[in-house]
Amino acid sequence: REHLRRRDTADAWRPRHLHVVGAGVMGGDIAAWAVLQGLRVSLQDQGATPIAKALARARAQFERKLRDRRRVRDAMDRLIPDPAGDGVPHADVVLEAIVERASAKCSLFQAVLPRMRPDALLATNTSSIPLEVLGADLEQAERLVGLHFFNPVAKMPLVEIVYGPATSDITLRRAAMLARMLDKTPVTVRSHPGFLVNRILMPYLLEAAALFEEGVPVETIDRAATDFGMPMGPLELADTAGLDICLSVVESLSALRMTVPRSLRKRVDSGQLGRKTGRGYYRWPRPRRLRGP
Ligand code: NAI
Repeated sequence: REHLRRRDTADAWRPRHLHVVGAGVMGGDIAAWAVLQGLRVSLQDQGATPIAKALARARAQFERKLRDRRRVRDAMDRLIPDPAGDGVPHADVVLEAIVERASAKCSLFQAVLPRMRPDALLATNTSSIPLEVLGADLEQAERLVGLHFFNPVAKMPLVEIVYGPATSDITLRRAAMLARMLDKTPVTVRSHPGFLVNRILMPYLLEAAALFEEGVPVETIDRAATDFGMPMGPLELADTAGLDICLSVVESLSALRMTVPRSLRKRVDSGQLGRKTGRGYYRWPRPRRLRGP
């Protein structure tokens, strides 16, 4: 699929409206980032609180980045809280960033796809669920594509464009076009455990967890990594991504003989999911620190 890397000038499709379902760590930040790149974004969640928190986070980010009050107001006008999903029939792309559970994502797709415009893309931010699983019972699985952003969205340039057996070439090309419009660097990868980045990243996180279980303090492990030159230590990174998300990724990699560390399973089972819950490998002063671009 090398030809898909080329810029597509022949296709007149230009996304203007993105509908994001799931206003948590990722959905909220993707929505804010897309607004900053000029898109109109409707943001849906099953709860009112995540939408309100995402909007507050977005406003803080816009104020830091845009400074001018009028520009901040214009940006906020393009970010539409949409608890009922009214934006779905108007959107060029519907992107889900809900809980990492295949059954939840599949029922969401069944509900939204019939309401979407015929040329709109259906995208998933899943970090671990194979596209063939998500598309298995979908009428038009050729419209489903992975758009895997990384955390924090405003800082991470890469987006994995993930294709399953049914994903059409036009869907893939348009997903890559959207990533470029969002000022991100798309890399096209086949749906495979860990896709590309997490397959490389997870062994590093697992060794850090193993060291921790052998009695090395978290700060010592992370300090070695940051002194080495990494922007953040592996256990802080795990807490930041969310330990529930890390667990799903490691489980998806079990086919590659990676096993779940005890310390990770224990924390997830007791609701210690990292930064977003105030406790993971570290204790965090408040649920999730706000991060700027
Ligand atoms: P999160 O737990 O912070 O947010 C999930 C949000 O989805 C919550 O606000 C929840 O209320 C909402 N939600 C759950 N089910 C819903 C439904 N049926 N309809 C509408 N809203 C619903 O999760 P996070 O970390 O943002 O992850 C979301 C997705 O992004 C997952 O698929 C995850 O694998 C993926 N991802 C996460 C990364 C991370 O670093 N946290 C990085 C890259 C991808």
